[in-house]
Amino acid sequence: MIREIVRYGSKVLRRKALPVTSVDAEVNALIQDLFDTLAEADGVGLAAPQIGVSRRVIVVDISAAEATQPPMALVNPAIDAAEGTATAEEGCLSIPDLYGEVPRFTEVTISALDHEGCAFELSAEGFFARVLQHEIDHLDGRLFIDHMPPLRRQLLRGPLKRIRKEGEEWDRRHSSH
Ligand code: NI
Repeated sequence: MIREIVRYGSKVLRRKALPVTSVDAEVNALIQDLFDTLAEADGVGLAAPQIGVSRRVIVVDISAAEATQPPMALVNPAIDAAEGTATAEEGCLSIPDLYGEVPRFTEVTISALDHEGCAFELSAEGFFARVLQHEIDHLDGRLFIDHMPPLRRQLLRGPLKRIRKEGEEWDRRHSSH
């Protein structure tokens, strides 16, 4: 099911998401919703907090850029090792139409559970590593703009303020239940 993507300004994007204790049918439904919403938005990655669910689940699909890399769901992902840094432009579905240069590790080793609850390890580099780090950041309440130099971020103040209103509005609509 396609879900509404929560905008910057919502508290759910700043919360540390809770680990998944059991990869059950509910978590699989969440994974499906993440994939559906990601496809609709034509994005490369999406984290559960971005659809208002504060759980440690992400999906990534960079197959449009790297055809050999199949779409992937990661439950409770953790970065076990990392090396190298490179800076490149990033955006975020929760901060539409806003882009900025962000430094990231160039290579990461990540452990996670798959959609069946089986543990696996994954090595990634370049763009794939960047997307994974961006999505895992979401689980800790971090956004790509947090990695930008203060001066650069200052320049985005106007647009950020407009988007923040949408996020705060989402919180108001969801605070009653
Ligand atoms: Ni994002």
